Amino acid sequence: MNVRGAEPAKGNDAALQQELKQSGNIPVHIAVIMDGNGRWAKTRGLPRIAGHNEGVESVRDTVEACGQLGVKYLTLYAFSTENWKRPQDEVSMLMRLLMRALRDETDKLHRNNVRVHTIGETQSLPREVQAELYDAIEKTKENTGLNLFLALSYSGRWDLVRAVKRIAEDTQAGTITPEQVTEQLIECYLSTKNVPDPDLLIRTSGEMRISNFLLWQLAYSEIYISNCYWPQFRRNELYAAIRNYQSRERRFGMVSEQLK
Ligand code: IPE
Ligand code: IPE
Ligand code: MG
Repeated sequence: MNVRGAEPAKGNDAALQQELKQSGNIPVHIAVIMDGNGRWAKTRGLPRIAGHNEGVESVRDTVEACGQLGVKYLTLYAFSTENWKRPQDEVSMLMRLLMRALRDETDKLHRNNVRVHTIGETQSLPREVQAELYDAIEKTKENTGLNLFLALSYSGRWDLVRAVKRIAEDTQAGTITPEQVTEQLIECYLSTKNVPDPDLLIRTSGEMRISNFLLWQLAYSEIYISNCYWPQFRRNELYAAIRNYQSRERRFGMVSEQLK
């Protein structure tokens, strides 16, 4: 049996985490649109890549804190289908950074019982990035703590188109009939198969849009917009988002009284 867990938090941080755990429910699945790296760099007179670099620190801290809090799924929007349209040099630098981050972080993720997964059109990533990614996935596949989903070359519409295509193929092949197409069946064809929908969506940098992230899966997620740029987002901002989430009433179309 795997008895490893995330390294526990220390001191004041442990107390803050304890408070969150006691005061209500910890979201099972948190999804994050990590935005504002470029602007963070620009306000400091630095190149955009400096913001991406610093953003890796935020990823590290967020992943660690989520593991300690007992969050089961964390999905990070790291590179969208549309991000391929950025200037070539930014795309190459991002790919190199991604490769290095995967190489440097995998051992620690593994020690912390994190299981790495990916969603997206990963075949379009450079071969070296794919190699690091699949190494991380393979190395951590037995882990039982936080499930970390890296959305790479991902978009919600890509996910839906792929699902519809495969449903059409299976219908044509006769393995399913049109009558069998239900919400549950569609979910089985999405890249997030077997993953509960995000409870909480966090977007940083104050932007209020979904930017083609998990379009189907976010149907009833609580949305929290942080004004921090992603490189400034550390565990205390995460705690603020969770605290805010805990103060909400999720009605799923019903009325308050029905939820009592
Ligand atoms: C998010 O920061 C990182 C990626 C999309 C890869 P941005 O690079 O979008 O930074 P801003 O939004 O331009 O400030
Ligand atoms: C969304 O950020 C994508 C990721 C965080 C990976 P963008 O910066 O690409 O989003 P838009 O284009 O400003 O909406
Ligand atoms: Mg942006």
